[in-house]
Amino acid sequence: MQNSKELYPFFERILPQSEKEKLLNQRSKVIWLTGLSGSGKTTTALGLEKKLHQNGYLCKILDGDNIRTGINNNLSFTKEDRIENIRRIAEVSLLFLRCGVITINAFVSPTNEIRGIARKIIGNDNFIEVFVDTPLEICEKRDVKGLYKKAREGIIKNFTGISAPFEIPENTDLIIKTANKQIDETISEVYNFILPKIEYYTLNGTIIQ
Ligand code: ADX
Repeated sequence: MQNSKELYPFFERILPQSEKEKLLNQRSKVIWLTGLSGSGKTTTALGLEKKLHQNGYLCKILDGDNIRTGINNNLSFTKEDRIENIRRIAEVSLLFLRCGVITINAFVSPTNEIRGIARKIIGNDNFIEVFVDTPLEICEKRDVKGLYKKAREGIIKNFTGISAPFEIPENTDLIIKTANKQIDETISEVYNFILPKIEYYTLNGTIIQ
């Protein structure tokens, strides 16, 4: 097997992120939505992608439900598997990031350790953590997928918020509250927060921060 030193010349020849960003006229970032199941992460991600797309930004959504039926379909919800889940997702996000694409991730990512792993892989400057702060009572009342009921009955084990922990994010960039709010309002909050971070300006070919 080749070691990373032998592979290094290949990485050197890859067009850098800055060139991809220039082509796409955007700065790529990873927008990482964390929160309980049913908190509104996916709805927010879908709405945000639509709004960004309409405004000329190329995005990619990665979401717990689709990733776990594909690339991560061999992982469970134990602590170790959740870490592996997030590690792989962070690595995939990094590939999109390097390609200039804005990635919107919707994952429970329940602990500060797990979110820290993602932040480390992606890099602090490119990682925007958004806590979708919806109280457990509301998520459980919504119970869109009927999973809370099954978790209370003990049919689903290790369920976040019921029989597995969800730690309040310590390092978050933005907190959004979805309870008693219109979805458009939530989406605008995230959109307005990230816009200055993804806008790409040049003056005579020089990038303006
Ligand atoms: S994470 O904890 O590893 O980040 P992830 O976001 O990928 O979780 O997947 C969460 C989704 O899987 C939930 O929205 C829910 O639909 C489903 N799910 C199934 N079992 C569990 C469980 N034990 N804990 C949390 N979510 C679960």
